[in-house]
Amino acid sequence: MLIFPLFNGRLMAESLGLPLGEATTHTFPDGETLVRLITPVQGREVYFLTSLDRPNKKMLPLLFAADAARANGATAVHLIAPYLAYMRQDKAFHEGEGISALTFTGLLSSHFDGLITIDPHLHRIHALQDIMPIKTSVLHAAKPIAAWIKANIAQPVLIGPDSESQQWVQSIAVELNVPYCVAEKNRASDTAVSVILPLEKAYHDYTPVLIDDIISSGHTMAANIEMLLKSGWQAPVCIGVHAVFAPGAEALLSQAGAANLITCNTILHPSNRIHLGNLISDALNQRTV
Ligand code: R5P
Repeated sequence: MLIFPLFNGRLMAESLGLPLGEATTHTFPDGETLVRLITPVQGREVYFLTSLDRPNKKMLPLLFAADAARANGATAVHLIAPYLAYMRQDKAFHEGEGISALTFTGLLSSHFDGLITIDPHLHRIHALQDIMPIKTSVLHAAKPIAAWIKANIAQPVLIGPDSESQQWVQSIAVELNVPYCVAEKNRASDTAVSVILPLEKAYHDYTPVLIDDIISSGHTMAANIEMLLKSGWQAPVCIGVHAVFAPGAEALLSQAGAANLITCNTILHPSNRIHLGNLISDALNQRTV
């Protein structure tokens, strides 16, 4: 087994304690890219590791790398993508649109034999195996997040910032045996988000902990923070699995009044506090892909 870290995947790859391969990327003056695998792959099972945030510029070099491994004799070519992009466009919301989640996962399926990922945004698509004909392994951050909350927050009440977050928040609340609720979100545009929070007054002295899978523009979290503060709750701790963070998102959250911003390290970011390398190395050791 040989792990090739690509783009910003090196730190996560190093934490796995497995043999690493080296690849180089050359960009020609005209902007085209050449990927070269320096470490021989003949007869090896190869895993490329990269998060797929900012996917447009990563995708072509990633596919070139996969095909280069196959052309140079790798026995199998897998992808470890701690964050899987494009999963939120899981239906055509307006006339004229396509379903990007299908296009994106279809492309990956046609170049890789297997995929390991962490908490992909599965909403209208219920399971990756429903749309990907390759072996998929979906890992979950719920237990490491629960462990972080247990170690750092004395009396938490968990809040899911929209209905899609129910699955994560509920499983963490059950793990910790603490109360939780889920907000009702209305999103009129990328930046116009409003929420209704059904939080019981009985928990007023608890520390609110908002938990979402993706923090992108930050508007979902910010609307929840504002609603909590307006209703007299203490400033919440905000936890995201995937620190996508569009430009301005962190400033928005701090202006809204977040007490603390904590993320998992599926995407490299200064807010990474919850490390998920063990999930991936356990999956690799059990050879679940
Ligand atoms: C969507 O349903 C996701 O679970 C997140 O709530 C959403 O992607 C967050 O996006 P933003 O930070 O742009 O509001």
